[in-house]
Amino acid sequence: MAKFRPTIILSAAITLDGKIASYKGDSELSSKHDKVRIHRLRSKVDAILVGKNTVMRDDPLLTVRHVKGKNPIRIILDSRATIKSSSKIIKTSRNIPTIIAISKKATRKNILRLQKHPVEVIISGKNRVNIKELLRILKRKKINRILLEGGGTVNWDFVRRGFVDKAIVTLTPFLVGGKEAITLVEGKGFSKISKSPRLKLEKINRHENELVLYYSLKHNKKN
Ligand SMILES: NC(=O)c1ccc[n+]([C@@H]2O[C@H](COP(=O)([O-])OP(=O)(O)OC[C@H]3O[C@@H](n4cnc5c(N)ncnc54)[C@H](OP(=O)(O)O)[C@@H]3O)[C@@H](O)[C@H]2O)c1
Repeated sequence: MAKFRPTIILSAAITLDGKIASYKGDSELSSKHDKVRIHRLRSKVDAILVGKNTVMRDDPLLTVRHVKGKNPIRIILDSRATIKSSSKIIKTSRNIPTIIAISKKATRKNILRLQKHPVEVIISGKNRVNIKELLRILKRKKINRILLEGGGTVNWDFVRRGFVDKAIVTLTPFLVGGKEAITLVEGKGFSKISKSPRLKLEKINRHENELVLYYSLKHNKKN
């Protein structure tokens, strides 16, 4: 396992056709049973990381609610520091530790607005958050296990750099289609299958019409 960065566990619920939301942004895929599992998993990691669009679209809390347990730190990738003060993440930041990772592209005005809230602001990268640099900083803060909860664009940055160590994906019994619907991994993609990280299927759990697939990385030359 790489030493310079935390372990990354990619977690998502996908439709049978690989989407994580409908083209309108509806991402209500998980059953109650699966939500309980996800919340238990959240309680066992140091942090949850998501991209700005996920916060904009879903306005999530990213807390542990369906089981008893500790809330992990919430980390949002938001290059231009545009997260809304009215978002649940910002509104609850007094009680739940929150890191907003921004880039040098963020304006002074936006940074000052963000700093009015009890969040930690970490600056890395020129135009976009540099996740390699960010992960180094997080590791130094003793954040050793991160649950990567999407969306597809952020997932791609981790996948392309070979930074995904485990993937826990719930296959839900839906087919939503849509060219504009976000898939598990967006971005440019690899030109060849051989460039993909090699994953080993460790375990499958079935609950009614859902399958939870547990994968771990087989080889990773990039670490
Ligand atoms: N089913 C599920 O389990 C699940 C889970 C999570 C999300 N979702 C769905 O996914 C959708 C959002 O996915 P998305 O792909 O549009 O957006 P996303 O991955 O949530 O956020 C992407 C944005 O993050 C910012 N970002 C900052 N640094 C980045 C970096 N290094 N790499 C990549 N992005 C970076 C960028 O905006 P800036 O340049 O402005 O910073 C980028 O546009 C929503 O509809 C949500 O409901 C589903």
